[in-house]
Amino acid sequence: MAIQWFPGHMNKARKELSTRLKDIDVVIEMLDARLPGSSANPMIAAMTRGKPSLKILNKQDLADPAVTALWLDHYERRPGTRAIGLDAGERAPAQRLIAACRELAPGRGGLEKPLRVLICGIPNVGKSTLINSLTGRRIAKTGNEPGITKGQQRILLADDFELVDTPGMLWPKIIVEQGGYNLAASGAVGRNAMDEEEVALELIAYLMRHYPDQLGERYKIGEMNGRQDYEVMEAIGRRRGAMLGGGRVNIQKTAEIILTDFRAGQVGRLSLERPEEWVVWEKAAREA
Ligand code: G4P
Repeated sequence: MAIQWFPGHMNKARKELSTRLKDIDVVIEMLDARLPGSSANPMIAAMTRGKPSLKILNKQDLADPAVTALWLDHYERRPGTRAIGLDAGERAPAQRLIAACRELAPGRGGLEKPLRVLICGIPNVGKSTLINSLTGRRIAKTGNEPGITKGQQRILLADDFELVDTPGMLWPKIIVEQGGYNLAASGAVGRNAMDEEEVALELIAYLMRHYPDQLGERYKIGEMNGRQDYEVMEAIGRRRGAMLGGGRVNIQKTAEIILTDFRAGQVGRLSLERPEEWVVWEKAAREA
């Protein structure tokens, strides 16, 4: 799937990140709990190799809790890595976040030189929301359209703990095809950069395999067994009254309905990838 990224901004962000990393003790990467593999940025992984790493699986309120548990376990098995699930509803996330970082870098940080923690994540993952909640102020802009460039900042969360925000946009390079669809389904990709019908169809196909009951229940379209994804899409369109003249279903409108519902958690708490699936998709992409 063709997605329009912004290589110029990326190069600038990469250079700034590289300078900034020199005095960083721990790197926090925020991931979307519904799609941890796709929302990870391989460039960040390459640039921060060897640094203690905290993965935050954010928006866990929208993800399948059983699958989130699998991902947390998957990351915790990596040396020098900790993982926590989080969502915007958590009142005081600072304590858990600070404790996890301190565990990752024991002996580092003190009153003279605070523990320096870099926080990064792709646009729309919820970084500004988290920073706002950590500081209790609205200092970073939250917004619906991904791609807003934000200023750089250093935030003292405790006397001996400094959070350093990453500059600019850090889009992932899309290597895994399914990853592109999942990012688009999650809302991380601007509308102009994707084909919503294609994205919604892929989403339906995945939900039919993993969450047929929730899908049937949400749209009251009965059993999924033996049906094709496009038949299910049409059934949803009919059910929701997304029609064109002559009894034809308005597929574009139907796609928008499905994507909006998914993003708002209206179909249920759903995850779009599991660790074992992601490993297979990644391997296939590398061998292609
Ligand atoms: P960014 O800085 O990483 O680009 O992301 P930002 O904080 O702007 O968040 C992007 C969208 O994700 C916002 O929604 C925000 O409310 C939502 N969000 C952030 N964290 C969570 C979470 O843990 N759970 C859920 N369900 N949503 C989360 P928006 O529609 O753009 O704006 P809003 O009107 O909802 O604030």
